[in-house]
Amino acid sequence: MKRTYLFIGAGRMAAAMVKGLKASCDDQVTIYAANSGNKERLEIFCTAYQLFPVVENWTDYITKVDTIVLAMPPSQQQDILQQLAPFVTTQLIISVAAGKGLREMQKYLPDQTAVAWVMPNTAAQIGQSMSLYTTSTISEAQKSALHVLLESIGEAKECSEEQIHTLTAITGSAPAFVYEFAMSLMDAAGNAQLAEEELQELVAQMIYGAAMMLKSSSSPAELREAVTTPGGATAAGLDVLYAKNFQKVIHEAIQATSERARILGN
Ligand SMILES: NC(=O)c1ccc[n+]([C@@H]2O[C@H](COP(=O)([O-])OP(=O)(O)OC[C@H]3O[C@@H](n4cnc5c(N)ncnc54)[C@H](OP(=O)(O)O)[C@@H]3O)[C@@H](O)[C@H]2O)c1
Repeated sequence: MKRTYLFIGAGRMAAAMVKGLKASCDDQVTIYAANSGNKERLEIFCTAYQLFPVVENWTDYITKVDTIVLAMPPSQQQDILQQLAPFVTTQLIISVAAGKGLREMQKYLPDQTAVAWVMPNTAAQIGQSMSLYTTSTISEAQKSALHVLLESIGEAKECSEEQIHTLTAITGSAPAFVYEFAMSLMDAAGNAQLAEEELQELVAQMIYGAAMMLKSSSSPAELREAVTTPGGATAAGLDVLYAKNFQKVIHEAIQATSERARILGN
């Protein structure tokens, strides 16, 4: 079955999703893409993924597609929804705007419009996103179009709107905390006399291996215990983390992220 998408926004997240769609079902998708008027960027984007550029009046394309993906900055969403509203009929409207949500979309669209709010993360670029999503009442065909998109960028979990607001700090922002942790480890290995790239590779593989173990059935506590001999070297390191209240620091970082996201979303 041929699926048709209109992407409004041709930036990093649109590129990740289009790349995923093209890689997973190139011959089954037709994709139109529009942006805010940067013609050079749109041309590069459309050439890279063999898309149809929409240089003017993207509203003319609404009736040509089944699914519209809003991939522009959250601050632009209200304006775009208001432009969309008069033309929407049976299309599924998917937004990836951080901090916004379904209710925020529904405010500006006709009643009964099929909407989905998806919160991917940056690993969508390599097909490894942990995406959260929620939808209004949508048809089986629309569910299928949504799942094709979600699965093309990684794994996805259906949540309530409120859960997405709460969990975005963890799935969306905490990757930055992991990178900060990686930088700290690389810094701490300063006197091992390895080149920066070698250190990065070593740390990345360690995190990757730990993540793979975590994705197995064992709990993090069991995995931690398996590495930690009482009175041993790892235990000495963990004791420092406990003494500095590592968990509390992480809680505070997540709370600060969520609070800021709510302010920005409003
Ligand atoms: N990047 C991520 O990892 C990530 C993760 C989760 C969610 N998101 C969400 O994804 C959305 C896009 O983020 P991004 O990182 O892809 O941003 P980006 O790289 O800055 O790209 C934004 C795109 O939106 C276009 N745009 C801006 N205003 C527009 C308008 N009024 N009409 C049509 N197009 C417009 C821009 O057009 P020009 O090309 O003309 O500048 C550009 O193509 C945001 O809502 C963000 O919250 C991003």
